[in-house]
Amino acid sequence: MEILGNEQHKIIHGDALEALKTLPNNSVDLIFADPPYNIGKNFNGHVEKWKTEEAYLGWCYEWLDLCIQKLKPNGSFYVMTATQFMPYFDIYLRNKLTILSRLIWSYDSSGVQAKKYYGSMYEPILFCVKDKNNYTFNTEDILVEAKTGAKRKLIDYRKAVPTVYSSEKVPGNVWEFTRVRYRMDEYENHPTQKPISLLERIIRASSNKGDLVMDPFSGTFTTCFVAKELGRNSIGIELQDEYIKIGLRRLKLAKEFKGEKLQKEIRTFETNMLSNTDTLKLFEEKNGKYIHSKH
Ligand SMILES: C[S@@+](CC[C@H](N)C(=O)[O-])C[C@H]1O[C@@H](n2cnc3c(N)ncnc32)[C@H](O)[C@@H]1O
Repeated sequence: MEILGNEQHKIIHGDALEALKTLPNNSVDLIFADPPYNIGKNFNGHVEKWKTEEAYLGWCYEWLDLCIQKLKPNGSFYVMTATQFMPYFDIYLRNKLTILSRLIWSYDSSGVQAKKYYGSMYEPILFCVKDKNNYTFNTEDILVEAKTGAKRKLIDYRKAVPTVYSSEKVPGNVWEFTRVRYRMDEYENHPTQKPISLLERIIRASSNKGDLVMDPFSGTFTTCFVAKELGRNSIGIELQDEYIKIGLRRLKLAKEFKGEKLQKEIRTFETNMLSNTDTLKLFEEKNGKYIHSKH
């Protein structure tokens, strides 16, 4: 296990169970956990599939317990898994925390389409707190437009002076955010990268500036990246070298890792469109001055 980064943004390169055990109890304000889903995804050559569902769940219960232990008494915990495992998480966690919302991250239809059943178009997220009477929830920071379906503004005629209904509200429990696509600026080479927009809502709602946000399965470090952008501190844990490199680069914590310069991969449409000189310029724009041309 290796600790990288700085005081504000720590990256722990190692196994989540081991890394979590090293953190002080009751020390984290917000945890976002997006583990492997036990559906056979390939994380840089490591295929995440447990021998049995029981084995997967047994492993999950271990890190879920550790997350609860590390969470402050007024902390919040958002956790994801595949739709088929979420009922187990729900039953396990409801005895230990208060589950305040069962969220649905609903997305568009790209990707493999089911032909003989209804394709999966959402991922579930549980939003839990340790103390339902004392937790951070910054309503004002996450308001969305209240869609009424009406073209004109709705007026509340029951008021003494007729007033326009408030056009903003706290989002409901179905969240629409597009998945991260290859051509999007935020795209990184990872099979299950979560969108910045999803983490922005969670971090704005459930933490304050200066708070500590932790992600035990960081992948492309979206959580820590957004935490940094929003003035929070972060701890990100990740097993794979390739993804540690993305985290160090995205959070601007290092320019190299194990002697290798950290630079964002150029995507096919970027190389196809550009001459070699342009490609080099693009590299420099994206990755800063540490990539030097010898020409
Ligand atoms: C679903 S992905 C997380 C994606 C992330 N939320 C993002 O936005 O990119 C799960 C990540 O957990 C990592 N992982 C798997 N087993 C782990 C373990 N035992 N300890 C730490 N990380 C692990 C995988 O390498 C993978 O990057």
